[in-house]
Order: sequence, then C-alpha cells, then structure tokens
Amino acid sequence: MDTALIILAAGKGTRMNSDLPKVLHRVASAPLLEHAMAAGAMLAPRHTVVVAGHGADQVRAAATLFDEDAQVVEQTEQLGTAHAVAQARPALDGFDGMALVLYGDTPFVQPETLEKMQEALANHDVVVLGFEAADPARYGRLVMQGDALERIVEFKDASPEERAITLCNSGVVACKSELLFDLIDKVGNDNASEEYYLTDIIGLAHAEGRSATVVTCAEAETMGVNSRADLARAEAAFQSRARALLMEDGVTLIAPETVFLARDTYIGRDTVVEPNVVFGPNVTVESGTTIRAFSHLEGCHVSRGGVVGPYARLRPGAELAEDVRIGNFVEIKNAQIAEGAKVNHLSYIGDATVGARSNIGAGTITCNYDGVMKHHTTIGAGAFIGSNTMLVAPVTIGDGAMTGSGSVITSDVEPEALALSRAPQVEKPGMARKMFEILKAKKAKMQRGS
Ligand code: UD1
Ligand code: CA
Repeated sequence: MDTALIILAAGKGTRMNSDLPKVLHRVASAPLLEHAMAAGAMLAPRHTVVVAGHGADQVRAAATLFDEDAQVVEQTEQLGTAHAVAQARPALDGFDGMALVLYGDTPFVQPETLEKMQEALANHDVVVLGFEAADPARYGRLVMQGDALERIVEFKDASPEERAITLCNSGVVACKSELLFDLIDKVGNDNASEEYYLTDIIGLAHAEGRSATVVTCAEAETMGVNSRADLARAEAAFQSRARALLMEDGVTLIAPETVFLARDTYIGRDTVVEPNVVFGPNVTVESGTTIRAFSHLEGCHVSRGGVVGPYARLRPGAELAEDVRIGNFVEIKNAQIAEGAKVNHLSYIGDATVGARSNIGAGTITCNYDGVMKHHTTIGAGAFIGSNTMLVAPVTIGDGAMTGSGSVITSDVEPEALALSRAPQVEKPGMARKMFEILKAKKAKMQRGS
C-alpha cells in the first residue's frame, strides 16, 4: 500500500520560550522536524505533507531543504490535532493509500515501528502507536476491549479509572487516507480543551463497527520535545544511542561520552575517534582513519587511511583523499586534498585543490578572499609549500614546484620552479655585539638617572 506522511508541526511550543518554531530546534545538528521526516522517509512515501502554523515560512524552508517534494500546508489557527490533519486533505485528494500521522516534535520513532503499523493496517481500519508509560502523566489513555482499541481518552477528560491506565497514546496514527478524513469530519470539540481531537476518530470508528488496534513500542521512541530541558534530554538520548550503534559497527570511540554525532554522521569500521570530537551535519569518514582529539568536522569527507587532528577543523566542502594528514590547528574549507598530501601545522586552506603527496608547510595560508569575492588556489602534485607562505588567490602552483618560506605568492608558479618573494637577507659583521653594547649603556644611564 502506498503511504502518505502527515507531519504535524503547527504548534507554537510555548514552553521552548523561543522565537524559533519548536520543530526547528535541533537535536544532533538536525531540526526535530527532519528526524520525524527521515523516519517516515524510510517507508518511501508517495506524499509527505507537513502541517505548519507558527513560523510557517521557516518550517516550509526546513521541510523542503530535507525533501524538495514535501508539501507544506498551513494551519492558521491551532484548533487541535484533528483540525491539523484536516489541513492535509486537499494535498491528498484522490490518494487511497495509508495516511500516517507523525508529530514534528517527536524525533525518535523508529522506521521499523512504522513498518509494523503499516503491516497491522492490512487487517485493521485504524492503527495507533501506543506505549507503556513509566509515568503516564498527561498522555491520552488507550481504552482497550480485549485486543481491540475501543477509544482514546485525553487526560483532561478522563475519569479516575481511565487515568489509572498506563497504556498511552504516542500520537502516531495510521489509517486508510479516505477513511481518516471521513472520520475527522465527524470529530467535534465538545471536550475539556474545546479542541478537535484526532484521538476521537477511534471511538467514532468503533461506533461504526470498524476495527482499531494498537502497535506498541518502547517509551524512548515516543519522547516528545516541549521544553529546552526536553531538548537536552533528547540530545543525550540520541547521542548515547548513536555512539552505541557506531561501536557495534566497529568504530572505536575512546571516550564515547565526549564524542558528539549528527543525525547523518557516517563513520566506517576500524576508524578510531579520540576524545572530544564534534561531528556536525553531513560528515562521512571511511574505514581505517583516525580522528584525533578536539577536532571539529562538518560537511566533509575523510577517506581511508586519513589522520585528522588533534585540534583540526574540517569545514563544508573539505574532501580528503586517501592517506591525507591534517594536523593541529589546521582549517580546511571547500578544498580537495589529494592522496597522501600533508597539511600538518597551523594552516588555512580554503577554496583550493592540493595535489597528491604535496607538503604544505606550517603556517601556510590561502588568501582566498579579497574583501568582495572568493578565489581559488590550485597546488599541483608533489609540490612543497614553504612555511608561512601566503598564496594570494587566484593562483596556481605547478606540479613539483617549491615556494620559499615566508613568501607572498601573487602570480602563478611553473611546474618544478622555485618561487621566492621576500626581502633579501643582509648580514652586518659584528653588528649584533655593537648593538648589545649600545643598548646596555643606554639602560645603565637610565637607571643612574632615576
Ligand atoms: C496529543 C494527543 C495525546 C497523546 C500526546 C502524545 C490529541 C488530542 N492528543 O496530546 O493523546 O498522548 O499527543 O504526545 O491528539 N498540533 C498542530 N496543530 C494543532 C494542535 C497540535 O499542529 O492544532 C501539533 C503540535 O504542534 C504537536 C502535536 O500536534 O506537534 C501534538 O499536539 P499537542 O497539543 O502537543 O498534543 P498533546 O496535548 O500533547
Ligand atoms: Ca505534546
């Protein structure tokens, strides 16, 4: 059966106390919304509809950045979860597959759980994702009748007996799309919150003799984010799970609790990650590399055999081929570093290509920005860039060329040439001794005078 995702993301998130819409706060370097969209995307949905409200323009931008085919519809007034889902109706006109409702503020629902719901829908009209809550608090309670789900009662409307139920509603619901919208049409707002509750569709379906059932998952999957404290808890939960998965996949984390991963971090087997390393979004690290302590990586690729850090910074567009070495206090941005090249100390390489086995001396800087535009530096294979060379881009250094230490290179250097641009050295015999004598005499005179 085809799937359509309906992701609810209109809420303000008052308790975040933020100008940013709640679903755009980040866990593991990705907006909460993206986590929910990514979980749903594993079902290869035909439609993805995001219901936005507060900060709709920003939510739209984030949704389409992740999935350019996502449709974003607006719910201008937040009248309840059923009303929110109803906004997706025009976008799903004529669609007759499964509609799956997810919350944009609930990032950890696993794709396998959603698959189970999809399977259950083959035999039922409505499938709700439930969980046994350690503390049921204010969750909606699932009222069962044997194996069948009879209705969901919201905490505010529940009797003491119903509040004693520990099987709770996660909010995730699967239903045949047309039936979902038919049921929603019948939902009213005569309840404690005066909201249109999506949860009311269960009782309505039951009354029509339709079957509803529950698929259960671990409580950890249903964790929602409503406050900054929840956000921190979600981050911690994500990180501990992601670290454990990496170690299972054969990656050594010397001090796992000090390594921070992004939602999409990929690290190959037999790579060693030393303590205090941060991975931002969009990083791939191949097998058999070493990421040394205190390095920061984002938007980059490290190939097999690479050694990065300690204290290295790889920024977006840094692409390291096999056996590249990037040492301490080196920043690489939008640059391709070919096989076996070394940039070991105190350098900035930005908007550049560096040829295979070239050696970039300490303190080398690609001067890529003229204050208005960015320019490219090309360094050939087997080049030797002397320490403290300033490469004023645009500039090309040929294969096997050399630059003298301290040079400011403003024009291209032919292959195998040596380029020097620095004041010639002058030497004055005995002058240092004379200078010392003069200076010492001056100091003695000053001390007598005071
Ligand atoms: C909802 C469920 C409850 C469940 C709980 C799980 C209903 C009536 N209740 O309660 O059974 O245990 O989630 O967390 O569905 N939203 C909109 N537009 C609206 C209202 C909500 O987009 O008009 C979005 C919110 O931004 C949020 C989600 O839907 O992402 C859930 O809404 P919320 O008001 O937090 O529902 P709960 O009261 O938590
Ligand atoms: Ca909530």
